[in-house]
Amino acid sequence: MKILVTGGAGFIGSAVVRAAIKAGHSVMNIDCLTYAGNKANNADVAGHKGYSFAQVDICDAGALARVFETYAPEAVIHLAAESHVDRSIDGPDVFIQTNIAGTVNLLQLSKAHEISKFVHVSTDEVYGDLGPHDPPFHPGTAYDPHSPYAASKAASDHMARAWHRTYGLPVVVTNCSNNYGPYQYPEKLIPVTLIKALAGEPIPIYGAGDNIRDWLYVDDHASALLAAAERGVPGQTYCIGASREQTNLNLARKICRILDAKRPRASGAYADLIRFVTDRPGHDRRYAIDSSKIETELGWRPQTGFENGLSKTVDWYLANQDWWQPLIDAGAAARQGQAAGKG
Ligand SMILES: NC(=O)c1ccc[n+]([C@@H]2O[C@H](COP(=O)([O-])OP(=O)(O)OC[C@H]3O[C@@H](n4cnc5c(N)ncnc54)[C@H](O)[C@@H]3O)[C@@H](O)[C@H]2O)c1
Repeated sequence: MKILVTGGAGFIGSAVVRAAIKAGHSVMNIDCLTYAGNKANNADVAGHKGYSFAQVDICDAGALARVFETYAPEAVIHLAAESHVDRSIDGPDVFIQTNIAGTVNLLQLSKAHEISKFVHVSTDEVYGDLGPHDPPFHPGTAYDPHSPYAASKAASDHMARAWHRTYGLPVVVTNCSNNYGPYQYPEKLIPVTLIKALAGEPIPIYGAGDNIRDWLYVDDHASALLAAAERGVPGQTYCIGASREQTNLNLARKICRILDAKRPRASGAYADLIRFVTDRPGHDRRYAIDSSKIETELGWRPQTGFENGLSKTVDWYLANQDWWQPLIDAGAAARQGQAAGKG
C-alpha cells in the first residue's frame, strides 16, 4: 500500500514508518517537526526508495491538500498529535488545534481522495481511569477523559467516527495503552527515570507512585497499527495493550535494578535516587486494556515480554546518549504541568 503516516518523526510514528517499510509498503511521512519530532528518528529508512518525507503541519489544510494530490495515498495512519499530558495542563490551545482541527483536515482530505483505510491512532486515556477492581477498558467502555490531552484525543475519536458514519469514510479507531521503547522523547516517565538515574540526579515520582499503567513495547504497537491498516474493519474500534500493569514506583525500581546490573553506580543503588514529588493535577489512577478483540479478529499479539522490552530500552538509551543529551540540554526533562498556583 501507499501509506501516508502523520507524525512519523515522533516516537511511535517512527516505529510505524520502520515497520511499514520493512513490510514492503511505501510511506509518505508528514510531520511538522515540533519539539517532539526529530528527523534523526527516521535515519534507518531515510535512504529507502519507498520512503519520503514532507515537513507539513496538519493544521495547514492547503499544504496537506498538495501532499494528497501529489502522493495519492491509499491509506492514512494518523499519529501526529501533541502527546504530553503535563504540557496540555499548561497550554491546552495547541492540543485543540493539532489534535482536533488537524484531524478534521485529514478526515476531509481522506474523504475527498477516497482513501481505502484511515487508521486514527488514539489512547486509552479517553476512557478516564479505573478503580483497583474494575475490569479493563474495552472498545465499548464509555468515554470519560480527564486531562486536556485526553479530552482533545476523545474529541478527535468522535470526529473520526462521525466521518465514518456520515460520509462512509473507512475509519478504524485504535485506543492503546502507554508505550515504551527507543526514541521516546525524554519528558515521559521511562526516559526521564533512566536519564535522571544516569546523571545521578533525583528520580521524580509523582504522588505516592501508586498510579498504574499497562505498558506496551512500541514495536508491538506499530505492528498492531499495520494490522489495523491492512485488515481492520471500517467502523470498528480496537483496544491495544499488553496486560502488563505496573505501578509507576515498581517500574522506576525495575529500571534502577536493570541499571544496577548494566552500569553500576560508584556507590549505592540507583533506587536511592527516587524522590516523591507533588502529584500531577487530576492524575488518573489506573489504566488497563482488554486487547481480546484485536487478538481474535486481526490475529495481533504483543511479541515483546515486559522484562525483555525494558532491558532493550535501557540498552538503547545507554548506547544513544548522542540522541538524548542535546534534548536534555535544551530542557526536555524539566517538570511541567503543575497547574500554576496549585503545585
Ligand atoms: N506515547 C504513548 O504512550 C501513546 C499511547 C497511545 C496513543 N498514543 C498516540 O500516538 C500518537 C503518537 O504518540 P507519540 O508518543 O509518538 O508522540 P510524539 O509526541 O513522540 O510524536 C508526535 C509527532 O507528531 C508531530 N506533530 C505534532 N503536531 C503536528 C502537526 N500539527 N502537524 C504535523 N506533525 C505534528 C511531532 O512533530 C511528532 O513527530 C499520538 O496521536 C498519541 O496520542 C501515544
